[in-house]
Amino acid sequence: MTEEFRYKQLEAWLLQGIKEQRWRQGERLPSIRTLCREHAVSKATVQHALQRLEAQGLVEARPKAGYFVSLQSPPVKRPVSRARIEAPRPVTVSDLLLDIMRRSAAFDLLPQHPPGDLPPGIVALNRSIGRSLRRQGGQDYQYYDEPAGNYELRQQLALHLTRRGWQSEPDAFCITSGCQHALFLALMACCDRGDVVAVESPGFYGVMQIIEQLGLQVVEVPASLETGMDIDALEDVLQRWKVRACVVSPAFSTPGGALMPDAAKQRLLALAETYDLAVIEDDIYADMAIGPVPDPLKALDGHDRVILCSSFSKCLSRDLRLGWVSGARWHARIVHLKLVTQLSSSRFVQRGVAEFMEDGSFAAHLRRLRTELQTRRDRLIQLLHEWPGNCRVSKPQGGLAVWVELPEGEDTLSIYADALQQGVVITPGPLFSASGQFKNCLRISFAHPWGKAREEALNRLPALLASNQ
Ligand SMILES: Cc1ncc(COP(=O)(O)O)c(C=O)c1O
Repeated sequence: MTEEFRYKQLEAWLLQGIKEQRWRQGERLPSIRTLCREHAVSKATVQHALQRLEAQGLVEARPKAGYFVSLQSPPVKRPVSRARIEAPRPVTVSDLLLDIMRRSAAFDLLPQHPPGDLPPGIVALNRSIGRSLRRQGGQDYQYYDEPAGNYELRQQLALHLTRRGWQSEPDAFCITSGCQHALFLALMACCDRGDVVAVESPGFYGVMQIIEQLGLQVVEVPASLETGMDIDALEDVLQRWKVRACVVSPAFSTPGGALMPDAAKQRLLALAETYDLAVIEDDIYADMAIGPVPDPLKALDGHDRVILCSSFSKCLSRDLRLGWVSGARWHARIVHLKLVTQLSSSRFVQRGVAEFMEDGSFAAHLRRLRTELQTRRDRLIQLLHEWPGNCRVSKPQGGLAVWVELPEGEDTLSIYADALQQGVVITPGPLFSASGQFKNCLRISFAHPWGKAREEALNRLPALLASNQ
């Protein structure tokens, strides 16, 4: 019997057992060891079958405890429905994406990434995309995909988000070229030239660039390094100016990795209703939670006001250029804007990623990544605590970076060029503010494994800062 046939048989047997309630919701499935013994199969076969059930939302893996029947039933599969295409209208052409590409090194301390082994998840992803490419049908290359994107991928995203507490369906998603594109489409869809947008301060520079390119105005709302946007300050802003949209990252903010508490999320949504705001949720870091993965703000969206934006860039590969947006009441317009800005997304890449998710490989990759990120975060914080002088370092509960506040008077912008000359790329604080605040701050990433070269690069910075005084 082939290995493929074995895992499918075991998957079918487990599925039947769940349907017949041999194990009820929340109950533990037999251990991997028991399944191996009773079905005379290898551990890899059992894990493969369990991962496939997990990817369908039917079972949940709990670290050190085993696999359990999920508490919530997976969403019903719906037939594909085509997005409505509205009449064309003029738009502003933007060089935003080119600008982002120029800054692509900003997340690493080293300008040229050293060679290293691929993590097993990326090897599996590449295989999946390769298989998808080889399977492309005869005339596929002559056709565009539909603007909203591949249905199977949207189905997997709906399952993924449903597991995080938002009962979603494939038609709620539109595939984009990364999260930057999703944010761009979201702001474009809900704002007009001159409108005011509220952002976290410090906040993501990519959003500021979009605001600039779209001729919008920005109001920066102070954000804490622990709990994110200050909702009292937001209320104050809303009382003073007419704000059209608010961009937030409840899980986890850029640059500090703050996690917004549920009570603050509820208040934010109540304010959105009172002041007629669109809330744009940048959810790109949520899957990189160091503790439990938080529910998205979108899960609480009773008034269809939250536009959810995310991508695979941080949790899988930046090079995929694959993201998604769920546009709430602006969704039809967002799909239209996707058509105008990109026509469609690559079908074989989407299918490859969809299979990678369906297969359970994505969930397995995320589990490994989270453990790895915690180790990298803790190592970075430890290294930063060894720096001379007094600096405050955020302790993010997720994401890929820490925010470092150096003593007042330090100027991280002015050492940028010197650092580059010494082979170190820094991300200075003022980049995270439209008004040039946070001169004494730095964002430092732990996206990459710590090695000698990175640790040396990091340790060169205190001397550079001291020589600048
Ligand atoms: C908070 C945040 N949102 C969006 C993006 C853009 O992501 P993507 O590569 O998917 O366009 C980034 C990338 O740095 C980011 O940090």
